[in-house]
Amino acid sequence: MGVIVVVGGQWGDEGKGKVVDLLAEDARIVLRSQGGNNAGHTVVVDDRTFKFNLIPSGILHPATVCVIGNGVVLDPRVLLEEVEQLERAGADLSNLVISERAHMIMPYHPVLDRLEEAARGDDRLGTTFRGVGPAYSDKVRRIGFRVGDLQKLRFLEKKLDFVLPLKNDILVKLYSAAPFTKESILEEYTGYASRLDRFIRDPFPIVQEAVASGERVILEGAQGTMLDLDLGTYPYVTSSYPSSGGALAGAGLGPRHVSTTLGIFKAYTTRVGYGPFPTELDDAQGEYLRERGSEYGTTTGRPRRVGWFDAAVARYAVAVNGIDSIALTKLDVLDELEVVRVCTGYVSKGMPEDHPMANISHLKHLEPQYEELPGWGRSTREVRKFEDLPKEAVSYVQRLEELAGAQVDLISVGPGREETIRRRESW
Ligand code: IMP
Repeated sequence: MGVIVVVGGQWGDEGKGKVVDLLAEDARIVLRSQGGNNAGHTVVVDDRTFKFNLIPSGILHPATVCVIGNGVVLDPRVLLEEVEQLERAGADLSNLVISERAHMIMPYHPVLDRLEEAARGDDRLGTTFRGVGPAYSDKVRRIGFRVGDLQKLRFLEKKLDFVLPLKNDILVKLYSAAPFTKESILEEYTGYASRLDRFIRDPFPIVQEAVASGERVILEGAQGTMLDLDLGTYPYVTSSYPSSGGALAGAGLGPRHVSTTLGIFKAYTTRVGYGPFPTELDDAQGEYLRERGSEYGTTTGRPRRVGWFDAAVARYAVAVNGIDSIALTKLDVLDELEVVRVCTGYVSKGMPEDHPMANISHLKHLEPQYEELPGWGRSTREVRKFEDLPKEAVSYVQRLEELAGAQVDLISVGPGREETIRRRESW
């Protein structure tokens, strides 16, 4: 069986949650490898809608162990809200494991996120204000707090004695904002410690054992390749590594165990926040796709920017992640269009350019080159076999495969688990 790495191929929100939920049926472990509660995913089961920010999608499968891996930064308050919401809905959380090495968002991180964004003025990034960037910065500076610190409160207190003055200095002197007190943070986090204790463990033995015995392990990505700190449209990126390499580091696994790298792509493109987006539709067509595709953020409710499928981005994502299988989502959103456009590459200063370079100054000046394909003008939501799709939809999918350079093995035609076309029995 082996490890399936699920990565977003675009700018996030590709529908990874639904795909992971489907694959989790026969998984021993679903492991969320990076990101924080900046991400959000929706899973629909039997008319019930579940919204998660941190807890892996596999939680709805009782036999699956769900791990929040070492690459994640988590806000304990948000995690506890999710735990309570799921327990109220009757979910069994005894299989939830939180790595003691995952980092925590501290109360000053969201405050600094907001202040830094305001200070950037016109160059702001459009962050989710969840404190994710500041928390990862502290991890890199080695002044971060890890989930395991909740089990060593004396150590946590000692570290606060060193770290909090650094933070308060910035808050007070640079931004004229209110400082935090050690006592209030200690009180808050001591409360989290007792409520989260049952989940905190080192997942290393569980994950290694599953891999060694050939059981299915799924690494659930958050965000997408073009938001990757190194490979995306820097600085308009998140502060972690949503690519497949980042997923492995965030899980504590090596590439030898990976059997499939599954890239998730929406049948068109969306992006939240600022930054280059060559195929963006700033018109009625974009508005139509946004409404039809309910393109509003799961975490922040922000309207997403919408555009045509960008095959140059897809080719790039296939290459940098080593994607060998694609899941194409939301095909049904295109059902009523007369014409569907696909960006096959760009022109830059009069010269053809066929990959996005992931370089922001470059991306801004790219002119997308489009190919037009006929629409299919009827609903695909009831279709369950590839050959039953309208022939124009088949041609669209086949053209995306050719341009992206990987096979489309799964197509989603609606939010429900059953609204799926599988072109492959197993992964
Ligand atoms: P941050 O991750 O909150 O620092 O935000 C940085 C950028 O990443 C912003 O443009 C966000 O909109 C974007 N971003 C972060 N998480 C997600 C996600 O889960 N989906 C889509 N965009 C995201």
